[in-house]
Amino acid sequence: MFGIEYPIIQGAMLWLSRAELVAAVSNAGGLGIIAALTFPTARELREEIKKTKSLTDKPFAVNITLLPTLQQINYEEYIDAAIEEGVNIIETAGRSPKPYIKQLKDAGVKVMHKVARVKNVKTAERLGVDAVTIVGFEAAGHPGMDDVTSLVLIPLAVDAVNIPVIAGGGIADARGFVAALALGAEGVLMGTRFMVSKECPLHPKIVQWLLQARETDTLMIERSIKNAARVMKTDFAQRVLEMEEKGATLEQLLPMISGDRSKRSYISGDVNDAAIACGQVVGLIHEIPTVRESIEGIINEARLIGQRLYKIGMPVERG
Ligand SMILES: Cc1cc2nc3c(=O)[nH]c(=O)nc-3n(C[C@H](O)[C@H](O)[C@H](O)COP(=O)(O)O)c2cc1C
Repeated sequence: MFGIEYPIIQGAMLWLSRAELVAAVSNAGGLGIIAALTFPTARELREEIKKTKSLTDKPFAVNITLLPTLQQINYEEYIDAAIEEGVNIIETAGRSPKPYIKQLKDAGVKVMHKVARVKNVKTAERLGVDAVTIVGFEAAGHPGMDDVTSLVLIPLAVDAVNIPVIAGGGIADARGFVAALALGAEGVLMGTRFMVSKECPLHPKIVQWLLQARETDTLMIERSIKNAARVMKTDFAQRVLEMEEKGATLEQLLPMISGDRSKRSYISGDVNDAAIACGQVVGLIHEIPTVRESIEGIINEARLIGQRLYKIGMPVERG
């Protein structure tokens, strides 16, 4: 469907998933995704798409994240920019893509939509998207409000729809990859894994924090505004939680959780100036590979896992 070699997709990451990282993923046979809202205007998104095209001739996608912000965002303009620049895969996330489906379908692009609930998987199929990504409770970013893990969500999503399901949340190595495929997913989406890679433009201090972090070093904020977000467990994140416990309003919280703050931290390396998205799978990440090393490592090890399954009595028959 997407014209990629391996069913490995890089999760959109505000500010981080720009040309260098996206092109590296696509060049290594996966699908890179540019996070459109990294760019204050659609014109700047166009420039980034041009730059990405100069770095790869492989397919890549653009993510349009529909989340609460202080300013009105003209999403149509971003979508038009991506389409006019020749991007033919668009991922939507955060809210229903319904208002934009006609625009996307008329342009003939493939649409992926990312959700955290089985109910929303079905709605996405009804709306006509081409593939749906389901993210479990483990995931970085916004894993929804139901606290259901990937191991349960993936097969439920697969059973619920006929379109391909992509699995996200908690996957960083060949074991997670094979497990997701065994659960019925057609591909996987990884955010935290690609966040810790040589091509990711992240300050080394944050990379170091991530390398020593354990699976217990994330926490959920923004539950009070029904927009639960999994982030690094830092003093800053604890402060946001305290504000929520004391009844802070959306207006009071937005300046604390804005994307601009995280962009600042990615550059300065100050982990206590922003809530920084991070998944539980950080506990499985102990090295900083190139994107190609990650992807090829997963594919090679997946074959070894196949051999192990064979040895323990699960003979694989050629279909
Ligand atoms: C630093 C960071 C920033 C992210 N920003 C976005 C975003 O802007 N839009 C979005 O849809 N998802 C965003 N995500 C979520 C990822 O695209 C993906 O769904 C998630 O990381 C998958 O879970 P995993 O981290 O366990 O692999 C972000 C994740 C990380 C780690």
